Amino acid sequence: MKILNYGSMNIDNVYSVEHMARPGETILATGRGVFCGGKGLNQSIAIAKAGGQVCHAGIVGEDGGMLLDALHAAKVDTACVRKAAGPSSHTVIQVDASGQNSIIVFGGENMRPTEADIDRMLEGFGPGDAVIMQNELYNSPLMMRKAAQKGLCVIFNPSPVNEALADYPLESVSWFLLNEIEGGALTGQTDPQAILAGMKEKYPNASVVLTLGADGAYCLHDGQLLYQPAFRVKAVDTTAAGDTFTGYFVSGLAQGMPLERIMKRAARASSIAVGRMGAADSIPLAEEVNAAED
Ligand code: RIB
Repeated sequence: MKILNYGSMNIDNVYSVEHMARPGETILATGRGVFCGGKGLNQSIAIAKAGGQVCHAGIVGEDGGMLLDALHAAKVDTACVRKAAGPSSHTVIQVDASGQNSIIVFGGENMRPTEADIDRMLEGFGPGDAVIMQNELYNSPLMMRKAAQKGLCVIFNPSPVNEALADYPLESVSWFLLNEIEGGALTGQTDPQAILAGMKEKYPNASVVLTLGADGAYCLHDGQLLYQPAFRVKAVDTTAAGDTFTGYFVSGLAQGMPLERIMKRAARASSIAVGRMGAADSIPLAEEVNAAED
């Protein structure tokens, strides 16, 4: 199964702070780093590091050499990345003393693939292949529709959540990978079991992976419910922990691994990622994950 990832590519400006700046407050950062990120790029790198074949589809600006280098270093195919004028999408990220983050994304025009871009990206993909997308690039509904029409398996990580999701053709989705906030937005529920039940009711043909951070993750597939506890670690920076889980999960699916093993590897990989600073840089190689496996 070939994987196409329709995803953002951001330059992450990460500021270490004691606590997140509150409304009206000015605070001093204790450190700053510039990293490769974007939910899309992070997930492509995680898929590739986990041993999968992925073609990244997105847009990079004039300053995006570091983003392309990171994809190439991880052996991600960049044939579907368009280079555009102007700056790349970027973020401002605060990481507090407990490793939690808050993220502002500025996408600008380079978050806006056109219909012609989407048609070109989908060339060479068809039945038996999969597209994964998050909710940072514009025109995701169009990609979702066109990919489903071409017979691709549509995998959706509705992150970040926004009101536009209500108009997405979500009946085309085969796999949802989401956390409690995203699951809550789609179902109106807060309890994990109620979210799973709500997803099953609304999208009866889809499978669902619900991640709960330190409380583990559930996978609902073919009427079977699996639970994977989280591995306990001291968090340094939780940025891209969810992307690491998603990428490892999708890579495992594409490689035909049993679901129990996929869930365990994804949980292990994301636990390694939260122990390191940065987004894409924090994602472990399959060898590291395998070495940590029981
Ligand atoms: O999920 C983490 C990512 O979200 C960061 O790398 C940032 O770029 C935002 O897209």
